[in-house]
Amino acid sequence: MADLRIVGRAVVDGRLIDEVTVEIDGERISSVNVGEVGSGPRLLLGKGQLLLPSATDLHVHLRDWNQAYKEDVFTGTSAAAAGGVTTVAEMPNTSPPIRSPEALRERLSLLAARAVVDYSVHVGALEKVEDAKRALELGACGMKLYPEDLERLEDYLKVSRESGMRLVVHAELEGDDEAKAVKMLLSRIRADDDIRFAHISRAESLRMIELAKEGLGARIKVEATPHHLLLSEEELDENSRRISAVRPPLASMADKQYIFSGLERCSVDFIASDHAPHTLEEKVSERRAPGFPGLEIMYPLMLTEWLEGRLKISTLLKKLCKAPAEYLGIPKGDIRKGFYADLVVFDTSVRWSISARDFLSKAKYTPFEGRKLSAKVVSVFRRGELVYNGCLLVKGGGMHVRELKHG
Ligand code: NCD
Ligand code: ZN
Ligand code: ZN
Repeated sequence: MADLRIVGRAVVDGRLIDEVTVEIDGERISSVNVGEVGSGPRLLLGKGQLLLPSATDLHVHLRDWNQAYKEDVFTGTSAAAAGGVTTVAEMPNTSPPIRSPEALRERLSLLAARAVVDYSVHVGALEKVEDAKRALELGACGMKLYPEDLERLEDYLKVSRESGMRLVVHAELEGDDEAKAVKMLLSRIRADDDIRFAHISRAESLRMIELAKEGLGARIKVEATPHHLLLSEEELDENSRRISAVRPPLASMADKQYIFSGLERCSVDFIASDHAPHTLEEKVSERRAPGFPGLEIMYPLMLTEWLEGRLKISTLLKKLCKAPAEYLGIPKGDIRKGFYADLVVFDTSVRWSISARDFLSKAKYTPFEGRKLSAKVVSVFRRGELVYNGCLLVKGGGMHVRELKHG
């Protein structure tokens, strides 16, 4: 007898099935069957409810340390759980930054103590091959290059090639020229480099990457954020405009549509939130701190795109769940026997509007404020444990993805 059976509508391997029984034993899915089967404890999904794999977000900023006033590991990962995201990969531009094996080790122990969801960490630009190798041994999932690191791109490419550390690049040059940075990067990389472009936002950039992907092969990966997929500069109202500063800046309607179409064309590999919280004061001050929270609404926003007929469910789940889990090498991202039971129950019969006041993130604002959604997170399971059910149910328990094993 399984610990729990979840019975109802689900998407399994990209296909929507009306009645499925998913059995959970301990941390894992022990069987997936069409119809109702088995006996023992049962969670019967209501009408309008839908069971999906939970998401893996490859690009989050959880702040903490000197910036705990913006967000901390607990509040940031609570926001993840509330949004149906049970694995996150952190970016290294913390204060102090994660730019050495020692800083990485410290970050991992903070995450072990405080994270509610499973996690991985990117390191910042490392100058020594030895350091990159040590960071890899500690479990770093990649090395992130920021615009200010691109001057020394050749050095970092060398470190990456010699250590086997994958690269992730924030491609922007001279203020906010993404296409120029992408062009420069594409001219420098070789077929065997493993490089992921963070938050691609301009049609011109994606067109160049598409050509290079065909020419160079499959080791170029592309992330897109919900805000670049769904918002454009010209559509913002006055209130959203006040807090919409972000890097790269929101683009035009044509850019947005082209990036969105890249999901189905498969040139966009991952949807990632770029959850980047600041205080409201920092957002509206002269400096207009770039970035905003996104973990809580990414999945509901994108699922609404499917429910309203603009995206295939198989595409959506591939970019939000399957492909990012594969990137991290973890058995998650699908409802499949042997995979961890990382699951989310959505209510797809409601109509609700985003209200950032209700965020678990410390940052309670969003350029999506008031947007109407057709999908709401009801319950979230992390490795078989119910961690969110309208409210957060745990105080920690997140694990380093390196500890996760194939079943
Ligand atoms: C990010 C942040 O605030 O850390 N801001 C942003 O606008 N995206 C940094 C980044 O991802 O480049
Ligand atoms: Zn960035
Ligand atoms: Zn970022």
